[in-house]
Amino acid sequence: MTFPGYFVSFEGGDGSGKTTQARLLGEWLGEVTGREVVLTREPGGTPLGAEVRRLVLHGDHVDARAEALLYAADRAHHVASLVRPALARGAVVITDRYLDSSVAYQAGGRELSEEDVENLSLWATHGLLPDVTILLDVDPEVAAARLSGEPDRLERAGQEFHRRARETFLRRAAAEPARWVVIDAAAPLQDVQAQIRVDVAARLDLTPVVEEAAAAAAPELPPATLGEPAELPVDEVDEVGEGGEGAAGPGEQPGADVRGDAVAGDAVAGDAR
Ligand code: TYD
Repeated sequence: MTFPGYFVSFEGGDGSGKTTQARLLGEWLGEVTGREVVLTREPGGTPLGAEVRRLVLHGDHVDARAEALLYAADRAHHVASLVRPALARGAVVITDRYLDSSVAYQAGGRELSEEDVENLSLWATHGLLPDVTILLDVDPEVAAARLSGEPDRLERAGQEFHRRARETFLRRAAAEPARWVVIDAAAPLQDVQAQIRVDVAARLDLTPVVEEAAAAAAPELPPATLGEPAELPVDEVDEVGEGGEGAAGPGEQPGADVRGDAVAGDAVAGDAR
């Protein structure tokens, strides 16, 4: 079954910057499409999921199969109670991790069967797959250096585990290029976001919508590139009206001071973190 909404997942190693990039993409997609944006995550996108997250990441040792089942249970509930209803109302749903994390970590990392782990999640979700999956690829050693705070149970699993998980992500991306976008997460944050916007717009057939929004925001300027939106003086932005100011630059909050009516900043809803 297809839905009127858009379903986007972010994948990658711990410390690859998924959370920040997902938020920035959500703000921008809300602006250019005018749609509701739901930012969510796995595990822990729902109240039940938050319990699963605590058990699986901050509890004692969990057997690999039990771990796979817990992530799949979180996913089943997340999809049934949050993701599908949002897609059915036409929202853009952006999830920080989804099914491919289970294949990378529980199959690649824990060395369970890839087929079993994938089929478990397909069963759990009635086969729901993202329209686009963005892999923020980074060397686990580089990513580990970015992490702060007390490492959780999965972050403590060791370099070999994380190397296998990375390889699994890359192999899956290569095998299914129509769904995946692979981006070098070691690049500067703004460059990563700009590349994500270009690739997501192309995959979701949003390029005309994006160009229209950019042209409405700055009709006298040459078409803004996706990643480097033209900067407008404050008074011009006010005249553009609702939803028309074009793409916020990566790293910018949709600026409350340079906006007319409420647009994407308010549309970014449902962050159940
Ligand atoms: P994440 O929320 O990305 O961690 P953090 O916020 O600490 O960066 O993911 C939590 C951990 O759970 C991460 O190490 C990956 C792991 N994980 C799996 O092993 N299988 C899964 O199916 C999912 C969704 C996550």
